[in-house]
Amino acid sequence: MKNLLAYTLLLIIGFVTALYFGFYHMMPKSATTFDDEQTGLKDQLVFKFSHVVADNTPKGLAAKKFAELVHEKSDGRISIQIFSNGSLYSDIEEINALKENQVQFIAPSTSKLGMLSPEWLALDLPFAFSNYDAVQEGLHGAIGQRLFGTLQKDGLKGMAYWTNGFKQITSNKGPIKQPSDLKKQSLRIMQSDMIEKQFKLLGAKPYQESFNSTFQLLETKKVDGEENTISNIYSKKFYHIQDYMTISNHGYLGYVVLTDQSFFDRQTPETKRILLEAMEETTAWNEKHAEQMNKDQLEDIKRESPIAIHELTPAERQKWMKALDPLYDEAERIIGSTLIKQIRELRARYEYSPIQAFEEDAETK
Ligand code: LMR
Repeated sequence: MKNLLAYTLLLIIGFVTALYFGFYHMMPKSATTFDDEQTGLKDQLVFKFSHVVADNTPKGLAAKKFAELVHEKSDGRISIQIFSNGSLYSDIEEINALKENQVQFIAPSTSKLGMLSPEWLALDLPFAFSNYDAVQEGLHGAIGQRLFGTLQKDGLKGMAYWTNGFKQITSNKGPIKQPSDLKKQSLRIMQSDMIEKQFKLLGAKPYQESFNSTFQLLETKKVDGEENTISNIYSKKFYHIQDYMTISNHGYLGYVVLTDQSFFDRQTPETKRILLEAMEETTAWNEKHAEQMNKDQLEDIKRESPIAIHELTPAERQKWMKALDPLYDEAERIIGSTLIKQIRELRARYEYSPIQAFEEDAETK
């Protein structure tokens, strides 16, 4: 009798347990898995920001700053994930990735937008900007506005201009002082027909290749040299595998931060406000730090490597400007006169004073 009672009790316990777990799995999850840490999770937004340079560059640091500000201003609701060094998309792929909503923010160099509208090539005109102030005036003013306007037809929104700096030339073939020193030198350049025209005019052999292939092209001697800002030359260690560098400041390299217009339009007014405010603050921060970063990294290059640095003397620079001047007329034929006239005027108004390699008279190390 005792045994029967025990068996019946066991049977009942088993039955009740089976019933409990059976129903538990059939119950709607939301009714059972409440976890107060998950509250508001569906309001969380994660956006991707892809770029091709290293983190310790003006663009890399600005992207980080933007992500921090967005996180802070949204109380952690919006996260910006940064993919640097072309780890997600190369500079050739990133515009399409943006249009397909694979990423939500990119910051290509303005040179690369010539493939969307030729007007962007105006910023690649040789010696177009005399210093950082001239760049700020041009891009915050009529020139910048006009260029933003060209993005509409591609469904893109220009959020800001970020700055990097002035381009210098490195080579393994020999020192570059006169324009003729570039004859027959092969160089990696950005994807810009205006830059290609410049180097061809000087008798060089330019190759439009992706940024992230540059180190390998130099190392395997597929090209003799390249042109870039100090911060890119430093952070990608080009100076370790190049013998000569000329502080030529022959062109400007800056960025346009892009998002897809329809992606932006889909955001709530609050999200838009946060993104725009964070972008404005980041841009001011970037403008304050880019020049100093390039200067500091030039000192690092001098300290860390035996690369021979030559800075163009004023007389040499005049020769370069004269040799490259025909491109302004050519650009007018391609782009029209308004933008080129604005650039010519800006150039005339500012005294030439970009990055210098040496404090006093130009010298060669
Ligand atoms: C380059 O391709 O050299 C630059 O545009 C890289 C960059 O984004 O600064």
